[in-house]
Amino acid sequence: MVKFTDISEIFAGKEKRAVHIHGWLHHKRSSGGVQFLLIRDGTGIIQTTLKKDDVHEEAYQQIDRLPVESTVEIEGTVQEDERAPGGCELSIHDIRILHEVKEEFPIAKKYHGPEFLMDHRHLWLRNEKMQAMLKIRSKILESSREWFLSHGYIEFQSPVIITAAVEGGSTLFELKYFNRKAYLTQSWQLHAEAAIASVGKIFTIAPSFRAEKSRTRRHLTEYWHIEAEEPWCDLQKTMKVQEELVTHVLHELAKDLPREMEMFGRDPKDLLKIKPSFPRITYDQAAEMLRKEGVSVAWGEDLTWEQQKVLSFKFQTPFFITHFPKSAKAFYHKPDPERSDVTLSDDLQAPEGYGELIGGGQRIHDLDELLERIKEEELDAKNYRWYIELRKFGPVPHAGFGLGLERLIMWVCKLDHIRDAIPFPRTLTRIYP
Ligand code: 4AD
Ligand code: MG
Repeated sequence: MVKFTDISEIFAGKEKRAVHIHGWLHHKRSSGGVQFLLIRDGTGIIQTTLKKDDVHEEAYQQIDRLPVESTVEIEGTVQEDERAPGGCELSIHDIRILHEVKEEFPIAKKYHGPEFLMDHRHLWLRNEKMQAMLKIRSKILESSREWFLSHGYIEFQSPVIITAAVEGGSTLFELKYFNRKAYLTQSWQLHAEAAIASVGKIFTIAPSFRAEKSRTRRHLTEYWHIEAEEPWCDLQKTMKVQEELVTHVLHELAKDLPREMEMFGRDPKDLLKIKPSFPRITYDQAAEMLRKEGVSVAWGEDLTWEQQKVLSFKFQTPFFITHFPKSAKAFYHKPDPERSDVTLSDDLQAPEGYGELIGGGQRIHDLDELLERIKEEELDAKNYRWYIELRKFGPVPHAGFGLGLERLIMWVCKLDHIRDAIPFPRTLTRIYP
């Protein structure tokens, strides 16, 4: 059997002589008796050259007619060439067609509108920016997991099918569960709070669901959530965890994927400059800053996207907003013992106009305090029976947070729309393909 070399290995300088590669015909052009074929194998894209004089006339003509996205096997010699992308190319000795595409690839080298590209997402994934985004996603997940595991966190899974809201009823997806009602979870958090009394500090990487009923550029109905929960932890401590995790992830991206960062116009050096500790302002200070900019804030309401955007241009690095009013946050947030109208909560905001990346904070661990907040919010305590019961058996101060993977990608890659941070986006208007 022929041993095929990955294109990435050729670029890494591991293969210098004759190689066999296989891949998709990504793009081609010809000039003066030479065909330049860009071959993509999933690990990279390399330029190969086929000279008219080196093969039979008939074979040359066949390749000349070969549509893009056909698959081929190639035997060739690696040649260093500064003009070629990646610094080397392959000169072809032999080429074999494996699958010849019979119709024109729907996505041409011309402008296509976003809806067309969304309808053809299953094919558009082959685009170079999509490839870069997929590698960035994978790197963020890898480096997050690595950070948690090396800091003593255990990976824990909460159910996706649940019976009561975590983050309020307005964005709950209802589900027919045999002959009763259930929901898709908005966050792993409530079940995670049960698990910390078993295995201590924990994290997850899982999808969360929000029935966002408005068309926005920053909301998906299904997104990936990196969450952590920790016993013996307060607001200050969880913010330290958040800034260290985010810094680690940004530095790994800059070190391992500089080329992909640059494809999105992001200078990897900017990411390496980001270090803890991040600036911290309270909700009240944020409201004051906004007022000075001529933006009014109705005290007690959550900060809108427009308000976050104005604030985010005032910072060069991610920054925290803490102590949100009770009315702006879900029932489980612990009211500040020194000022009961605000909570021990934090949002981590991205700079450069991107806004919220993380929601987190300290949870209520006292039974009576929790019951009071449930009543105040007019929630049905029956739905939270097991969650309330946790407060009867060794409750301890605890805190945690949730990081939206696609929000982080949006900021790092300077994307205009969150749909380009996930392979198959689900939004108010899109569930195909
Ligand atoms: O601020 P949120 O609602 O907080 C929670 O769900 C907490 N229970 C998390 C926790 O403490 N374990 O959501 C957390 C993050 C947001 O900061 C945002 O990055 C992301 O999840 N997010 C979304 N991302 C994409 N589309 C949506 N519709 C999102 N809603 C929230
Ligand atoms: Mg939030």
